[in-house]
Amino acid sequence: MLLERGSGIVYVLGAADRGKTTFCRWLSGRLSETDLTGFLDCDIGQSTLGPPATVGLALYRGNLDAPESTFFKFVGAVTPSGHMVQELVGALRLKEKAREEGAPFLIVDSPGWVVEPAAQEFHVRMIDLLQPDLVIGFERGPELEGILVNFRRHPRIRIIECPVPMEVMERKRDWRRLYRFQRFSQYFENAVPHARFLSGLGVHGRMPESFREESWHDLLIALCDAEMMVVVLGLVDRLDLVTGTLTFRAPPHDAHRVATVHVGSLQLDLSNPPGRVVQGNRPRSGRQSTLLDEDGPGPQVPVSPASGGRADRGRSVPDQSG
Ligand SMILES: Nc1ncnc2c1ncn2[C@@H]1O[C@H](COP(=O)(O)OP(=O)(O)O)[C@@H](O)[C@H]1O
Ligand SMILES: [Mg+2]
Repeated sequence: MLLERGSGIVYVLGAADRGKTTFCRWLSGRLSETDLTGFLDCDIGQSTLGPPATVGLALYRGNLDAPESTFFKFVGAVTPSGHMVQELVGALRLKEKAREEGAPFLIVDSPGWVVEPAAQEFHVRMIDLLQPDLVIGFERGPELEGILVNFRRHPRIRIIECPVPMEVMERKRDWRRLYRFQRFSQYFENAVPHARFLSGLGVHGRMPESFREESWHDLLIALCDAEMMVVVLGLVDRLDLVTGTLTFRAPPHDAHRVATVHVGSLQLDLSNPPGRVVQGNRPRSGRQSTLLDEDGPGPQVPVSPASGGRADRGRSVPDQSG
């Protein structure tokens, strides 16, 4: 149907581990053989494009291993709960970006946060905002009905409901935390120290309530360009109010493009993998840590990435690029 129409936006909906991402990538690959296709990764907890806490857009022509271009918007958290505005704005701006870049097809992979009323409201607003032509729901039983029922009489949005394929594997919450931790670790693997005068830069987001060092240390930030697209993510080392200097670790990047600093809500201690029980292994300043996700905090099961991250768990990190 999409190929016949020559264009279309598809919103793929479902709880965690329902086969959304696998399907999105298959569909993106199929459509990109014909025309420029955008893959919009809105699953900020289980990102497959770029690091978690960002909404990402990749534009493909033919080859899913080599996007023509990528763009990222920073949300600053790993679940949309409490960050719906940032996520909605990010998704809409990247949808516009895909159109500006001339992509007739856009496939939207959405967060697996679908059950509670706030989650349902989130997806209803995302669908209302993005105005997809198709909503494809992967579900076990009627778990998406609270969302889908709102669009059953919509004049343009068509809904397709699919049972979850038998082969789709459910993963444990610990796997998802570890995956997230590994995505962040990979992103910051080549990070080096940077210092930046804040004078003349926009600074916004979830500013810590205090300027105490522990409120800022390891805080996840995004340095963004004049259009508020992510240039690079950083982890704060220190904010020096006397000199107006922010020191942080970040991968190498073009510092001249940076126009704003978006302060996120996570303090990321990459020396401390999830599940390792150590003293002080708690989010500082009441902020989120990588330990929290859409399901809320769970029991601490000792797991180390070296022992359990990939190989030990059968099918592990989804095929990905970016
Ligand atoms: N159609 C399918 N056939 C076989 N395995 C699948 C299929 N769809 C998904 N899987 C597997 O199931 C797991 C969860 O799929 P994924 O696409 O990551 O789900 P979601 O994005 O909904 O969390 C992955 O290991 C994936 O490889
Ligand atoms: Mg997914």
